[in-house]
Amino acid sequence: MNFIVRRAQYSDAAALPDIERSAAELFRCDPSLAWLADAAVPDAKHHQQVIKTDDVWVAQSADGALMGFVSAVQVDNELHIQELSVSQHFQGHGAGRKLLLAAIECSRDRELHGLTLTTFRDVPWNEAFYQRMGFETLSPAQLSPRLTTVLNNEVAHGLPGGRRCAMRLNLRPAPSDPHPTPAQMP
Ligand SMILES: CC(C)(COP(=O)(O)OP(=O)(O)OC[C@H]1O[C@@H](n2cnc3c(N)ncnc32)[C@H](O)[C@@H]1OP(=O)(O)O)[C@@H](O)C(=O)NCCC(=O)NCCS
Repeated sequence: MNFIVRRAQYSDAAALPDIERSAAELFRCDPSLAWLADAAVPDAKHHQQVIKTDDVWVAQSADGALMGFVSAVQVDNELHIQELSVSQHFQGHGAGRKLLLAAIECSRDRELHGLTLTTFRDVPWNEAFYQRMGFETLSPAQLSPRLTTVLNNEVAHGLPGGRRCAMRLNLRPAPSDPHPTPAQMP
């Protein structure tokens, strides 16, 4: 499938709630997470604001349809991925990977120290996917206060804390590291 990944424009915001709702349909295959498919999502106004102030990329098919988006916010020297969603119809064609790569590339251009996110541990398109992209799952001792707060807020909003984890992609090679991770390679 032919598609591009580009920076989101203000006018893209209207399409993003439907994309997030459609993406969440995937959770219906896990009965204990099926409720996520019916959960409220941020509205277009929210996305307009995020497009203005933070970092949002969209994947767009050759015929102009928006397939998915990733939104992220820079906090100090890290880019935190807030949401990554690809519409059900477009899943499995590489858009999710390419969107994430756009965020990684931008972080490298800004010389940030890393990227962070929170996700489900045992959902195949979550933790395992991010691990293949070079993210490491953080132990409780490795959690920054910011990520602890994010995880606690998720529990307060009904997510099962035992199945959630925080992950980090390190973009700073250790000075003596002769084996850079894929994310550190040009
Ligand atoms: C996660 C998500 C954005 C991936 O988007 P996508 O366009 O389907 O992803 P891609 O086609 O680029 O595939 C990325 C990887 O995930 C794997 N994957 C995608 N869908 C999968 C599924 N349903 N089951 C298992 N693995 C899956 C692919 O095999 C691929 O693996 P690779 O690393 O070997 O290439 C999409 O599944 C989605 O929107 N999910 C619902 C919302 C969500 O979970 N968002 C992430 C919140 S942290």
